[in-house]
This record gives sequence, C-alpha cells and structure tokens, in this order.
Amino acid sequence: MPFETILQNNDGPIATIIMNRPEALNALNHQVFTELTACLTDIAADRAIRAIIIKGAGERAFVAGADIKEMAASEGHAGSDRSYLGMHLYDQIRHMPQPVIASIDGYALGGGMLLAMACDIRVAADSATFGYPEIKLGIFPGTGGTILLDRLIGPANARAICLTGELFDAARAYQLGLITHLVPREELAAETARLAALMGSYSPVAMRELKCALNASMEMDFEAAREIEIAAHARCFASNDRLEGMNAFIEKRSPQFRGD
Ligand code: CAA
Repeated sequence: MPFETILQNNDGPIATIIMNRPEALNALNHQVFTELTACLTDIAADRAIRAIIIKGAGERAFVAGADIKEMAASEGHAGSDRSYLGMHLYDQIRHMPQPVIASIDGYALGGGMLLAMACDIRVAADSATFGYPEIKLGIFPGTGGTILLDRLIGPANARAICLTGELFDAARAYQLGLITHLVPREELAAETARLAALMGSYSPVAMRELKCALNASMEMDFEAAREIEIAAHARCFASNDRLEGMNAFIEKRSPQFRGD
C-alpha cells in the first residue's frame, strides 16, 4: 500500500526510503512513525533487498526533528507514548537484517539526528547541519536520544550537545564521530550508492549476524554480548554463503551469495 509521508524506490537490491514532508522539513509526525515502521517491516521480510538508504525529500533537510506543531497540540501525559513510539522505530532500524545508510543533507535535528544515528552508516554532505535543539522547546531528546548519542560519541560531547542545544556543521559531526562519511554535497548521492552497492554485495547471512553481534555490544554487558557474538558467528559459519565466500576466494572468482 502506498504511503503518504514517505516514498520507497527500489533499484535492484537497494531500497531507498525518502522522508517526504518537505513543506515541514520532513518533520516526524505520528503518521510518519507508523508508515516508516510498516515500510521497514515489509523490507525486513524481502530477501531481494540487500541494503537500505534513508534520505530526505527536497533540498533543505534530512529530517528537522519531531513535528513541533503536532507535539504542541498533544496532552501533557502523552510524553511516554511518544518515547516508546520513537524508541520502537529506532530499535527497528538498528535491528534490520539489511545494512541501513542515512544519506544526510541539510538539517538533521532532534529526532532527525536520532533517526540518522539509528542507521548503521551516516554519510553526510558538507552542507548538513546537526543538533539537539529540544532543550529550547522545554523538552529533551527523550526517545532514546540521550543514550544513543552518549554511546556513539561519548559522554562529554553528548552532554554538551544535549545541554546547549547548539547546532553544528558536518565537519564538526565528522570530528565527533557522529557521521562516518563526509563528502562534498555534489558527491553525496554517488557515495551513498557506492556504499549501498558494496554492503549489498556481501552475504546477507553474514550481514545479519554481524549486525546482531554489533547490536549486542551496544545493548548488553561484555559477557552477555560475547555469548550473542559466539551464537551469531556459529550461524554465519553454518551458512552456505560462508562456503561460497571462502571457495570463491580460493578459486579466484567473485562470490555469488544467496543468503542461505
Ligand atoms: N516540526 C514541525 N514543523 C517544522 C519543523 C518541526 N520540527 N521544523 C521546521 N518546520 C516547518 C516550519 O514550521 C515551517 O513551516 P511553515 O512555513 O508552515 O511555517 C517550515 O518547516 C520551514 O521551516 P522554517 O521557516 O522554520 O525554516 P528556517 O530556514 O527559518 O529554519 C530550522 C530552519 C532552523 C530547521 C527551523 O525550522 C527549526 O528550528 N526547526 C525546528 C527544529 C527542532 O527544534 N527540532 C527538534 C524537534 S523536537 C524533537 O525532535 C524531539 C525528539 O524527537 C526527541
């Protein structure tokens, strides 16, 4: 079923999801959360899709945060519902079996920065702008945003970003380790496509199990994460793709991964 607030374009094994509310700088309202969740659920079950790109519609924004107009009309007790809604979506993105790339130009603020942080790879144009301005609105990035930023870039800079609400440019985001790739604006699409094709060419089994281990490392203590990594690696090692990858190396040919 077509969605109203997002678009999905498939190009072979690559699915691109476009946040499509450019008149509101692609702000995240309740409908966006619902539609994005449904879209990702479909893609997770689609074995033909090997990599996912998330980007914003229009020239100005990736996503400028949660929809402030919608929040302004919400009851005071709705805060925890919003937290769970956002956290569920960001968890879902992190746990997608396919690699997910945030392709960022323009504003990635508040929940938009958080959406990008839930992705596996963040490729940003040098014209992108980041920040958690929530404190200026009398709230804070309470949909997992304090925790995820702290885990990704460390507590000192996470605190500064949360408490000052100041926006910062892509060069600073790269320096902080918040984005993984920084490119001139005109190269954003090509670099995003290159990374999607690269990761999409690898074994879907190995990719899924690798993400399982990486997620465990972020979400669990050392001992528990190590057990998850052992189990994930065992599943990977038992796959036909593992034999294909190793035999292809020995036979000096490109592997043909089937995802089993
Ligand atoms: N929610 C709803 N509408 C938004 C929006 C948002 N987060 N951000 C921008 N818009 C709308 C504006 O209201 C405006 O619409 P109208 O033309 O109908 O007035 C349109 O998008 C264009 O925006 P501006 O006219 O404000 O553009 P600008 O160039 O002057 O400023 C901006 C750009 C600095 C990004 C500014 O729009 C801004 O500060 N936006 C809000 C950013 C923000 O505070 N994000 C955090 C939201 S809270 C959150 O994200 C919580 C969470 O999930 C954890």
